Amino acid sequence: MKPFFITTAIDYTNGTPHIGHAYEKILADVLARYHRLSGREVFFLTGVDQHGQKVQQSAKKEGVTPEDFVAGVTAHFAALYQRLEISFDAWAATTEPMHKQVVQAILQRLFDAGEIYRAGYRGYYSTRQEQFLTDKDRGPDGLFGAEWGEVSEIEEETYYFKLTKHKEWLQQFVANTPGLVYPEFRQNELLRAVERMENDLSISRPKSRLSWGIDLPFDANCVTFVWFDALVNYISFAGYRGEAAVQSEEFTRRWPALHVIGKDILVPAHGIYWLAMLHALGFPDDQMPRFLDHGYVLVDGEKMSKSIGNVRDPNTYIDIFGVEAVRYFLMRDCVVGQDMDFSDIRLAERLNSDLANSMGNLLNRTLNMLAKYRGGRLVRSPEAPDALPVAACVEEWKRAFESHQVHAALEAVMKLATACNKYIEVEKPFSLAKDPSQAARLEAVLYGLAECLRIIGILLSPVIPKSVATLFEQLRWDRPPLSADAVWGLLPDGHEVGAPVPLFPRVDVPAAQPPKASV
Ligand code: MSP
Repeated sequence: MKPFFITTAIDYTNGTPHIGHAYEKILADVLARYHRLSGREVFFLTGVDQHGQKVQQSAKKEGVTPEDFVAGVTAHFAALYQRLEISFDAWAATTEPMHKQVVQAILQRLFDAGEIYRAGYRGYYSTRQEQFLTDKDRGPDGLFGAEWGEVSEIEEETYYFKLTKHKEWLQQFVANTPGLVYPEFRQNELLRAVERMENDLSISRPKSRLSWGIDLPFDANCVTFVWFDALVNYISFAGYRGEAAVQSEEFTRRWPALHVIGKDILVPAHGIYWLAMLHALGFPDDQMPRFLDHGYVLVDGEKMSKSIGNVRDPNTYIDIFGVEAVRYFLMRDCVVGQDMDFSDIRLAERLNSDLANSMGNLLNRTLNMLAKYRGGRLVRSPEAPDALPVAACVEEWKRAFESHQVHAALEAVMKLATACNKYIEVEKPFSLAKDPSQAARLEAVLYGLAECLRIIGILLSPVIPKSVATLFEQLRWDRPPLSADAVWGLLPDGHEVGAPVPLFPRVDVPAAQPPKASV
């Protein structure tokens, strides 16, 4: 079986990471860990996008070189991803010489093949978005909207990638490839955008305006447009050789990837530029990547922005609630593909209801009862009782994961935890323990609960790996989490569990912010 190759977008290193960046990396990490559970080899690539005008401007503002600026910001991202337990296998940093070399080799190949040409251009340019604008980008009032930042009219020679040459192919490909983009409605949006596309893509910037980039191999006065450079990370850091028509074995084994990206960068960057670039490089249709296009993490219903002052730093919440609570909340409360509202109140409530109450109590009660009534020793029951629908839960969990619905997978697991707690209420092990004729029943109930905890642990491990490791220590289950082990009856007869140690203490729910005073 081919490795599961998953990537995230690479983050711009022009500012500090926020909870939206964290969300995307956690989502990809959880999917990577899910695939590792089945023993499948995973190649998880993430990293940082270090070139471009925004970085050059931010560095200038701080009075440091772009190199130093980028090194500082990159360190922030890397430290955050380490805290967030992002289990990436490779780190893409676009200033790496190997990457630059691949980008240049690709540019040269496309230039030699006539896919890139030089032409004069006069038009409007948005510095913020680093792109030329056309009349179609004007708002209904005829002006360029605030999203473009400062727009100026410029004239220059530029190199174009023949995007339009690939339009017909792209249109057919997007229309006839079900499952290219998840969720499906985004694929429809992409198709509409491809139909509207009518210009080639300027892929160079004169050094007089932007020097912080990769030199064009065929014109030393220009650097490469940042998106062209950034997109190539997906193949350069996977072992792609820029020059060669025959690819390295390493790359061929891994490719194609599943790209986890936000809703703002499917059109045009990934769905149009990237697919056309790959097509121009000779990638056949069955070697095109897939896209998982997630929504936005919002704050009070609004996009995070420095100007509004609502940018949320994930470190704050990791400090207060712990990393696993942050991971769990983002995965449980966000429907993949839709926007979600971030709130520390809901985070705390989720931690209390699911992790502390359902899971924590279940673990605590089960291990306490086992210690008290049976000295921690299990008596194996060969069958799961009807009240604990383990197989159905595992099925649902798997189905949800295979369709990227992480929140639904967690919902399925929590249903099983709730069933376990209800089972305790109904079976009343504390009463059974008082009646010697019920000894076998008591043992079956306790075994059922321990088995469910073990299986729930496996199912939760992609999302809260550290807590599951602690849970397994308490159960004295010493195998790493594996989906093949999510079946009934693996705790052996006579197995002795450990003593309970609280896993998820309850937290205080933060007070609601007073509504903003109306002016
Ligand atoms: N550098 C480009 C991506 C190049 S990929 C070859 C970029 N960087 S970014 O830092 O602006 O965004 C990185 C990722 O974070 C993108 O997928 C983007 O959609 C995602 N998010 C940025 N803000 C977000 C939220 N508020 N919520 C969720 N994801 C968000 O785009």
